[in-house]
Amino acid sequence: DNPASVKRQLAQLFDISLRATVPDETDVVPLVDACTVKGGVKFGDYQCNNAMGIWSKIKGKQTGFRGPPAIGQAIANNLPASEMIDSCSVAGPGFVNVVLSKKWIAQSVQRMLVDGIDAWAPQLPVKRVLVDFSSPNIAKEMHVGHLRSTIIGDTLARMFEFSHVECVIRRNHVGDWGTQFGMLIAYLFENFPNPEDVSVAAIGDLQAFYKASKVRFDSDPEFKLRAQQAVVQLQSGETAYRKAWKQICDVSRAEFDKVYQRLGVQLEEMGESFYNPYIPGVLDKLGNLGLIEESDGARVIFVEGVNIPLIAVKRDGGYNYSTTDLASLWYRLNEEKLEWIVYVTDIGQQQHFDMLFKAFRRAGWLPRDENAFPKCTHIGFGLVLGEDGKRFRSRSSEVVRLVDLLDEAKRRCKTSILERDAAKDWSEEEIEKTSEAIGYGAVKYADLKINRLTNYTFNFDQMLNDKGNTAVYLLYAHARICSIIRKSGRDIEEIRRNGKIVLDHEEERALGLHLLQFPEVFEEACTNLLPNVLCEYLYNLAEIFTKKFYANCQVVGSPEETSRLLLCEATATVMRQCFYLLGIEPVYKI
Ligand code: ARG
Repeated sequence: DNPASVKRQLAQLFDISLRATVPDETDVVPLVDACTVKGGVKFGDYQCNNAMGIWSKIKGKQTGFRGPPAIGQAIANNLPASEMIDSCSVAGPGFVNVVLSKKWIAQSVQRMLVDGIDAWAPQLPVKRVLVDFSSPNIAKEMHVGHLRSTIIGDTLARMFEFSHVECVIRRNHVGDWGTQFGMLIAYLFENFPNPEDVSVAAIGDLQAFYKASKVRFDSDPEFKLRAQQAVVQLQSGETAYRKAWKQICDVSRAEFDKVYQRLGVQLEEMGESFYNPYIPGVLDKLGNLGLIEESDGARVIFVEGVNIPLIAVKRDGGYNYSTTDLASLWYRLNEEKLEWIVYVTDIGQQQHFDMLFKAFRRAGWLPRDENAFPKCTHIGFGLVLGEDGKRFRSRSSEVVRLVDLLDEAKRRCKTSILERDAAKDWSEEEIEKTSEAIGYGAVKYADLKINRLTNYTFNFDQMLNDKGNTAVYLLYAHARICSIIRKSGRDIEEIRRNGKIVLDHEEERALGLHLLQFPEVFEEACTNLLPNVLCEYLYNLAEIFTKKFYANCQVVGSPEETSRLLLCEATATVMRQCFYLLGIEPVYKI
């Protein structure tokens, strides 16, 4: 719920009106939405669409209403007086259109400038949320799929943080356990008989190391045997093996951290290995509840509506990805007492999570009602594609290294910054910082602006275009607003306190209204955990500011200078909040 949302405030008023209009229809809830332009005209700012629905419910009854328009008229008449509303009219088959008062819009925007944008954040009904994201696998490549998970997961965590959730855990469920470690450890011992010699630098490129050990594994039966024994020794906790495992993990972690640092993403690592000691206990509990059965030599859990079972223990008695997720979800619910657990992975894992959650429901460990708390949500996303429409790969058809990708984005931005006249007197540091903000921001935005469920094509030229719907365009628009304020020479803090917003010009009003819609758009983005909703809002804000407001309303030197500077400041504030939520570093100068 977000008390700052215009839509909600109007819904409350319409609720009063509906109670008075049809007192017997107690289950009618107000349907209020922002008006869209139809055939070039907009009948109001918001619309109440209840009349037709009510008519179909009551037409058989003796009510005195003769059709939807009459109901609409009654809804309009019964609407309580409010400083929010300027006028109200009924159109077509009973749509009730509301025109907001421009004075109220101005005051609301102004209040945000004084109270801070936090006043526009909703209050989610949960205290403890965990976002499981990024989660690459040790020694294997951190690929573009993990980049998507990292970017989307970070934004979701930011959305929860902004929504006053007391505790938001950003969990990196790294794949640091599994049979590949036997091979890696055997190879490590072969190359470094003296464990003292092992270091991050000595192992070097872990991917090359992985490949070389795989070659040994596939070609030398004796090595293979040693690798298999190493897995057993590692799992039984033998010191030398644990140590080797840790060293390999450290090398990988250092690689991952480089990416996180560049992207400005915080994560708390708790890998698969952490849950290993909990596995037997959780399997016992599931067994006692009668959930685990024997199938083809494996121990499995069948769930509703899926024809394959979730494998809890493999035929050879080993544990797998699902086993760990059973234990980790149990831990998250019982030890960490989380109310909402959000998993961010590609849609390919949808079935895995569907089965996991259903197994927990069968066990009575999650409520039957999927929307009740504690709840689990799988946030799936589509593939990252290359120009050829196939899975994104580098020329040598290997997976693309994320660090290289980010370097390239930064390099291209730096080149175009250096071509700009305005950047002539910038310091080296300013150039570096701006290239990073724009380059990394562009990569993030290109990903976030697309509905996460669809695939997206990775294209540097497109994401770095300064005219389209890109972070480059948005960051420049923000910087331009900041420079308008700077050039005015006025003290913006003083204006914030003592100035007044007036929305007499049509385009001033349109901008004010769009600003005021941030709370409801944010709420919508939260409901379905869709960051693209926020991107669309941000892009429209930049467009309304630039093409409508700024193109028609002179700011500096006009009689309305103070009010218009406040509108500039409010726009920049809301844009920065959007950037913050999307993990994009703002730019103040261009
Ligand atoms: N490591 C997995 C992968 O790379 C993602 C893990 C997601 N989290 C989880 N709890 N299963 O695909």
